[in-house]
Amino acid sequence: MLIRQAAAGDWPRIWPFWHRIVSAGETYTWDPDTTEEAARALWMSPAKRVFVAEDDTGTIVGSAYVTPNYGGPASDIANAAFMVDPDHAGRGVGRALAEHILTAAKAEGYRAMVFNAVVETNPAVRLWTSLGFTVLGTVPEAYEHPRFGRVGLHVMYKAL
Ligand SMILES: CC(C)(COP(=O)(O)OP(=O)(O)OC[C@H]1O[C@@H](n2cnc3c(N)ncnc32)[C@H](O)[C@@H]1OP(=O)(O)O)[C@@H](O)C(=O)NCCC(=O)NCCS
Repeated sequence: MLIRQAAAGDWPRIWPFWHRIVSAGETYTWDPDTTEEAARALWMSPAKRVFVAEDDTGTIVGSAYVTPNYGGPASDIANAAFMVDPDHAGRGVGRALAEHILTAAKAEGYRAMVFNAVVETNPAVRLWTSLGFTVLGTVPEAYEHPRFGRVGLHVMYKAL
């Protein structure tokens, strides 16, 4: 697997799994009906450093970005987001992307990483915890999950 910086031309190969993940409404606080144009502006924004993971056949199987979580005097605290194509999940792509992003963020001078809204039922919580993130707090019953009803949103943190 190759993890490389994304190019604008990668978007059409990110969008299908981006759409599948966000429209499921189980993991992100973005509108499940987000249009492709709005999604591209959000994910491929020049403010973000976007990466893609390619498998041995050149298929894009995941994408992630790192960006400042705050502005001004707190701009060295990073935020990141991750998506792995559900057809390629559970094979280590998410962990590899996360390790890559953590290394890149530290090399860029970020001092810590914060996830603002991790749905508490998301199996990804285990991945983040195994990478050293801790739950700073949970906004109770903040997220209307299609299967589990109202669930909390964790704020997660890791020093780099
Ligand atoms: C979260 C996500 C990026 C993980 O990617 P992945 O390639 O499936 O994850 P990996 O195969 O690298 O698994 C890493 C760890 O995550 C955990 N995990 C991930 N998905 C899981 C699932 N569906 N069920 C149980 N555990 C899971 C496992 O603990 C696994 O541990 P291991 O490395 O010790 O085996 C991916 O499932 C995804 O894109 N989900 C939808 C979007 C999302 O939730 N993004 C994160 C928002 S906070």
